[in-house]
Amino acid sequence: MSRRLRRAGSDATMRRMSQPLRPETLALHADAGIEATPDVAPPIHVSTTYVAGNSEGLVYSRSDHPTRRRLEAVLGALEGGHAAVYASGQAAATAALLHLAPRRVAIARGGYHATHYAIEALARFGVEKVPLDAPVGKGDLIWLETPKNPTCELQDIAAHAARARAAGAWLLVDGTFATPVLQQPLALGADLVYHSMTKFLSGHSDALGGVLVAREPKLAEALRAARTLSGAVPGALETWLVLRGVRTLSLRVRQQTATATRLAAFLAPRVARVWHPSLPTHPGYELAQRQMKGPGPMLSIELGSEEAARALPGKLRLFQDATSLGGVESLVEWRRRQDPEAPPALLRLAVGIEDPADLEADLAQALDAVGA
Ligand SMILES: Cc1ncc(COP(=O)(O)O)c(C=O)c1O
Repeated sequence: MSRRLRRAGSDATMRRMSQPLRPETLALHADAGIEATPDVAPPIHVSTTYVAGNSEGLVYSRSDHPTRRRLEAVLGALEGGHAAVYASGQAAATAALLHLAPRRVAIARGGYHATHYAIEALARFGVEKVPLDAPVGKGDLIWLETPKNPTCELQDIAAHAARARAAGAWLLVDGTFATPVLQQPLALGADLVYHSMTKFLSGHSDALGGVLVAREPKLAEALRAARTLSGAVPGALETWLVLRGVRTLSLRVRQQTATATRLAAFLAPRVARVWHPSLPTHPGYELAQRQMKGPGPMLSIELGSEEAARALPGKLRLFQDATSLGGVESLVEWRRRQDPEAPPALLRLAVGIEDPADLEADLAQALDAVGA
């Protein structure tokens, strides 16, 4: 059966249900019928090539791959669009920039530092990075990251979508910190949603990947065709691991958000500043109520001094001192080690799925140990 028919077959399975399926169910069933296999758990396909004329319409794994079809069906369903997956978040970001080929990219300061580097790397092809609110024209790109790394500040997706529409510009939203569980940028008018799959979608700190989800199926088709040429596809194991991880996305993100909210309240009276949209003192508090289904699983704190911030990770027993986020295990990072623009006393906490009381006790003893 061709790729088109397989996708249509899966849509038919969904249509037979009496009501639209909710995200928790789509994460498990949106890829139903894509592969003709009796397996309950998806098989891993390591072959790079396929016998000519096969009934699946498969030719070569750079252009098409059974598990990639399944993962794209699930991620597309979760975002309400059409997905193309990549070898990393950065590969997806670069693919969007190269495919849309904007003259200007409007982006706020801060956020994930390597996104800025990827845009700046295209200056030699005439791409100009401009401030988020600078005028944009037809074919330009407005790039939002919301919530933003590491302070969880929010940007108004619907407002920027209206602005993009009026100008004939594209709107892309990096929703890595929110995940499709808490935020639906396509429904708010974005053209593309971008995630580092390495983070919450995978959820286990064991697979690099990225995804672009387009509102228009034609844009997704064009991105997949361009990806066949660039070759930036995720490997078979990574694709399988993300598909496995995304099945539990909602459970993990809801638990991590609840824990982050509890820790934010616990830390607020104890440290110089807590960055989490659950707190009325956070600049994104109001917008989070409108734009998100929860304040999110990430938080950052600022201590009284850089010295204390650099010392704290060494005193924590459950939070491991490592970069990245979105996995089941809690991580802490003195963010300036990676990002030279991060405030000097800021620590980013990527909350895992450990018992919240244990994490709270760990933070309490570590703050005592550094005298914060
Ligand atoms: C918000 C955000 N976007 C994009 C990326 C890039 O993703 P990757 O590391 O998978 O290339 C990251 C990585 O940390 C990130 O935090």
